[in-house]
Amino acid sequence: MDKELWIIANWKSNKTLQEALEWVEFVGPKIERRENIQVVVCPQFTQLEEIKKAIMVGSYPLLVGAQDLSPFNEGPFTGEESAKDLAQFVSLVILGHSERRNNFGETDEMVTQKVKQANEARITPLVCIQGLETPIPDGAKLVAYEPIFAIGTGNPETPQNAEGVAKEVKKGMEISVVYGGSVDAENVAAFVAQDSINGVLVGGASLDAEKFVKIVEACY
Ligand code: PGA
Repeated sequence: MDKELWIIANWKSNKTLQEALEWVEFVGPKIERRENIQVVVCPQFTQLEEIKKAIMVGSYPLLVGAQDLSPFNEGPFTGEESAKDLAQFVSLVILGHSERRNNFGETDEMVTQKVKQANEARITPLVCIQGLETPIPDGAKLVAYEPIFAIGTGNPETPQNAEGVAKEVKKGMEISVVYGGSVDAENVAAFVAQDSINGVLVGGASLDAEKFVKIVEACY
């Protein structure tokens, strides 16, 4: 497959640093370097620096992403991670995930602010939409279509419906669209085979290093 593809591992609040490094040392050497495929791992904040180092030392074709960032510049915002600081370690950030919207009160306005912060720091903002009703802020570079019913349930959207949403999103905009929600090594090929889908955002199935390698291999 020659089109642009993103395969993004969203670890959420899982893995200790030790487990995270073991994953990188297992997955890194098994991933082929391909022009059109970007493989991104998104660990917890505390692990970003060590993961980035391990990838550089091993020269692995992996990028590092964050799962969130501050809507503000650096300053008096206790507990927040500024885009300026994160930019040392990450090239992508997941924004507006439904778990953040539902558990942490993240609003569309906050997502818009975060997209701005990411772009100013040259971090690629990946905005999660839960359906076509979710607004996509100006400056979003990538969109993940993640219907709530499909997240962590083993009940993915159909590739045809995901393609329909991706096509609609792309109508008004020059943007890449990935699909997320119960993606695994068995179903990933059917999603990336769709014309308008540029990859996958993988939660649960990305935690197991062997399973994740199989997901990447299914996209070659
Ligand atoms: P899942 O999660 O693959 O475990 O369904 C996807 C996500 O929340 O990004």
